[in-house]
Amino acid sequence: MAQEDVFKKIVSHCKEYGFVFPSSEIYDGLGAVYDYGQYGVELKNNIKKYWWDSMTLLHENVVGIDSAIFMHPTIWKASGHVDAFNDPLIDNKDSKKRYRADVLVEDYLAKLDEKIDKEVEKAAKRFGDAFDETQFRATNARVLETQVKRDATHARFAKALNDSNLEELRQVIIDSEIVDPISGTRNWTDVRQFNLMFSTEMGSTSEGSMKIYLRPETAQGIFVNFLNVQKTGRMKIPFGIAQIGKAFRNEIVARQFIFRMREFEQMEMQFFVRPGEEMEWFNKWKTTRLAWHKAMGLDDAKYRFHDHDKLAHYANAATDIEFEMPFGFKEVEGIHSRTDFDLSQHEKFSGKKVQYFDPELNQSYTPYVIETSIGVDRVFLSIISGSYAEETLDNGETRVVLRLPVALAPIKLAVLPLVKKDGLPEKAKEIIDLLRFDFRCQYDEKDTIGKRYRRQDAIGTPYCITVDNETMQNNSVTIRFRDTMLQERVSIDNLHEIISEKVNMKNLLKKIDN
Ligand code: GAP
Repeated sequence: MAQEDVFKKIVSHCKEYGFVFPSSEIYDGLGAVYDYGQYGVELKNNIKKYWWDSMTLLHENVVGIDSAIFMHPTIWKASGHVDAFNDPLIDNKDSKKRYRADVLVEDYLAKLDEKIDKEVEKAAKRFGDAFDETQFRATNARVLETQVKRDATHARFAKALNDSNLEELRQVIIDSEIVDPISGTRNWTDVRQFNLMFSTEMGSTSEGSMKIYLRPETAQGIFVNFLNVQKTGRMKIPFGIAQIGKAFRNEIVARQFIFRMREFEQMEMQFFVRPGEEMEWFNKWKTTRLAWHKAMGLDDAKYRFHDHDKLAHYANAATDIEFEMPFGFKEVEGIHSRTDFDLSQHEKFSGKKVQYFDPELNQSYTPYVIETSIGVDRVFLSIISGSYAEETLDNGETRVVLRLPVALAPIKLAVLPLVKKDGLPEKAKEIIDLLRFDFRCQYDEKDTIGKRYRRQDAIGTPYCITVDNETMQNNSVTIRFRDTMLQERVSIDNLHEIISEKVNMKNLLKKIDN
């Protein structure tokens, strides 16, 4: 099945099974804003817990905060967001559609990469075992021609971004003959900068009101609390502050479902280090964060690092962790070495000293910062995309299954009486009473057992407990495993232990604790 179709299926699956709904749907929706449904919110909460625990339990020098969304407007002047938090936009005069100029070029580069990969794939099939990929890439005329074109465009593009040269960025689009996917024309406007922050007014009119911004990142709430946390927590460098919270961006091109939203949630951690030690910590956090993703078991090959072509105004090194979504490798997390930019700027704009006295060095300095910044919604999408499978069973039937990491699954187990009589429903409810304080359970007695298994597969429930006549005789039930569909008969007395061992978040945390 084409990846585009898989993606469409995933989006409708999320809606049909109560994971994600378009916001304000009965009013025809609101662009790039989504609501999480009854199962979505559970998965989302589990992702947040996994991240929070991995930061604050596994690192004794990382603590959390929860800062307000509204902040003093000067913070955004100091951070550079008022002046520089822009995306380059371009309009097509025929379709009247607006695009991010950088995304148009990135998509074009990805197409050239795809073209090369297809040539390689074709040749690999043709030559079989004798195929030497390195040699083929280095010698095949068609591959070389595309590669040269790709590298030249990429070099011009990276330079245009770094120089903030909007005319050159437009010229790259023109020279690459990039067409509007809707009108099919190359009738482009100039490229302009567009600030992504939402603003609103605070205060009543009689007092006068103040323009404030909805935070476009949670990080600044951490920076302006650096001294509070360091002093009250007697924190010694190196240490980190973690936060989970909503962020808002008026994205120009909002598409790809929950990948690019106007209201989304971030999980950010700022790690404060001695100046000069930032690259060592940058590399350590790269390793730690990749391990966090891989521990979920989705498929190691679906992750890769992608270094930034253009460093943000505050960074001296930056990389993304990308996940292979159905629409290609895309950024899920950013890891940035932010230098002392933010703390120095807040010192300058607030007039307060924002420094750290290092007792070991007997000197004060402005700490450097390594940031790990990940979008909850993008992790959610990576998990759903990586778990979604359509399978044909031995009996010819098909099933849709979400092979979610068990510790993150919204419902941990379903308890199903085989029939609605002979005391089986009552027994099933007894089992739920035994387990519901520790695990999210679901009771279901409607339809055939096969249909009930399918419903649980579709929401990713890892275990189905079936209560049958034998249960009434010897206090045993069957436990069915989502991924293998195999069943095992176990005693009810052992159920708690069996489930607990399998669904514990500790299993994920242990994989990354090194
Ligand atoms: N504090 C640094 C920062 O905000 P970023 O790369 O702009 O860096 C970090 O954003 C992460 O936030 C991204 O890797 C992504 O997961 C998430 N994110 C950013 N914009 C988003 C959007 N419009 N919708 C959903 N997630 C978004």
